Amino acid sequence: MTVIDTPDVTINSAAATGEPTTGNSEVLAWVTKIAELTQPEYIHWCDGSQSEWSALTEELVAAGTLTPLNKNLRPGSFLARSHPADVARVEDRTFICTEHQADAGPTNNWSEPAAMLETLTPLFRGSMRGRTMYVVPFSMGPVGGPISQLGIQITDSPYAVLNMRIMTRMGQDAMDHITPDTEWVRTVHSVGMPLVNDAGESIDDVEWPCNDTKYICQFPDTLEVWSFGSGYGGNALLSKKCFALRIASVMARKDGWLAEHMLLIKLTSPAGKDYHVAAAFPSACGKTNLAMLRPTVPGWNVETIGDDIAWLRPGPDGTLRAINPEAGFFGVAPGTGYSTNPVAMDSIWGNTIFTNVALTDEGDVWWEGMTETPPAHAIDWEGNEWTPDSGRLAAHPNSRFTVPITQCPTVAQEWSESEGVPLDAILFGGRRATNVPLVTESLSWEHGVFIGATVSSEKTAAQEGTVGELRRDPFGMLPFCGYNMADYWSHWLEMGESLGDKAPRIFQVNWFRKGDDGRFLWPGFGDNSRVLEWIVRRVEGEAEGQEIAVGRIPAAGELNVEGIEIPAQDMTELFDVNPQSWLAECDLTDEYFAQFGDRVPAALSEQLTGLRSRLSAM
Ligand code: GDP
Ligand code: PGA
Ligand code: MN
Ligand code: MN
Repeated sequence: MTVIDTPDVTINSAAATGEPTTGNSEVLAWVTKIAELTQPEYIHWCDGSQSEWSALTEELVAAGTLTPLNKNLRPGSFLARSHPADVARVEDRTFICTEHQADAGPTNNWSEPAAMLETLTPLFRGSMRGRTMYVVPFSMGPVGGPISQLGIQITDSPYAVLNMRIMTRMGQDAMDHITPDTEWVRTVHSVGMPLVNDAGESIDDVEWPCNDTKYICQFPDTLEVWSFGSGYGGNALLSKKCFALRIASVMARKDGWLAEHMLLIKLTSPAGKDYHVAAAFPSACGKTNLAMLRPTVPGWNVETIGDDIAWLRPGPDGTLRAINPEAGFFGVAPGTGYSTNPVAMDSIWGNTIFTNVALTDEGDVWWEGMTETPPAHAIDWEGNEWTPDSGRLAAHPNSRFTVPITQCPTVAQEWSESEGVPLDAILFGGRRATNVPLVTESLSWEHGVFIGATVSSEKTAAQEGTVGELRRDPFGMLPFCGYNMADYWSHWLEMGESLGDKAPRIFQVNWFRKGDDGRFLWPGFGDNSRVLEWIVRRVEGEAEGQEIAVGRIPAAGELNVEGIEIPAQDMTELFDVNPQSWLAECDLTDEYFAQFGDRVPAALSEQLTGLRSRLSAM
């Protein structure tokens, strides 16, 4: 049952409603209650059909929210331009609402649930006036699967509905599985721009409705999400960060599994053996690219299972099994081109929603890095005339494409395997110009958790704030962990204990190390397969590695660099560990841990002590 109590809402008349697509009285009561609060003009029960998709896209084209792209160049595809202030996740407006602040922890904004509801209720009251309220049932993971979860999003944004249809298994099948005895997550989203004011006068709609006031609120105790004021992906597609990470991480802790900000790939060796690798990097640090990697090492093959979120659960055989709970990609456009990520380029041939990229004169899309030569003229992401010498970016740095995973030419058949795939290795990474080697194997599960817990990374355009600033982003989960981060580390340690020798190996990678001249030392992208090859050889016991203070790196000659030119000096710098700067980072880790007080697991404090003594002995 929804936790919002709205005794003082006056209902003039119940909203007109389409035929409800469920007989589940709990769902019906919840939808009615939200409709009474938000007062939409009409309730649309989404079935996920093609005709529904067509009707909604037509409606949004007529409203100016979507621009249809040239059918010959990009069939079935659309461009959306957001409000210029609604372009990324808003971490300072994101709240974990729990009874006790300590349960949300020092890295989350916190509110007591009742206090937040007091703030939210007046905002949502009448917020859908004049609009259609969509009821969007969805499954995260294959419908009915043992690792999957169900949810419903109520939203007044047809743009969100369309994206939810790409990103999740949305529609009637999911609704049919929401029975009185299933657990499901209730999510409510409003762009916060009613079309009728308090005096009953109508207000003209705009192409991208949103509100200056924004709240992205998670209520883990009641499995609810309330999101107000934004239409942007991470704030408005509530299945994604809000449910599949923030709420699911809490569910996972309770039930002995993990909800992670991870890509998922299947790797096949020249010998024909399959391996499965998950990797956690912060937003805009290379997950989608690694998920779609084209190996430059002959004989290896990589197939895509997921590019952003993975749910990990011990299977009946004791291995750690992983699924991608999503059904589409919400990828960063800038930097995506045939020279960097041809698989993404081939995935977005059509049926794609682009947000905040540029529109070419031919009616196609363009962004920085898509082609070497920019178009001579385009309309930029803000709708203004653009030429290469205009001195402005054509596409917003956090512009995105939304596309079904089934269009990915490298999608693994296992992507929809409901039992998940067994994990062989877990990678942690970030964007670090200095200090962190190209690849390091952890010395134990505890050391691996320590590495994950202490990841820092340069900030990107995926979140509001200063790009490039270094910040701690444990497990790439800083903005997504739905409970106290130190408790999350404990949960990871416990998972390792229960997995025992079936636990996957843990590695740290860094594609972003730079030389003094500011250029990347490592070619990255397809050449990251060279690192994956070494990781698999470690898993198989075929490579020895060399233990240094921070972990195990490839021994001389072990990393396959055949066919690429890397100056010996760069190779040395890629793996250089300077004890002074690492000891300085240890001091910062101490400070970082201090905010969690005695919730920091002893095993991690011991890891820090061990690292310091190994560094001091260098
Ligand atoms: P995600 O948000 O974590 O999925 O990150 P993406 O895969 O979308 O990549 C974000 C940005 O990092 C893009 O501009 C990519 O071109 C860039 N990137 C990804 N992988 C690499 C790499 O191996 N090396 C370098 N130098 N850049 C990369
Ligand atoms: P990303 O996903 O990790 O691909 O950037 C979106 C986000 O994290 O905001
Ligand atoms: Mn992400
Ligand atoms: Mn991505």
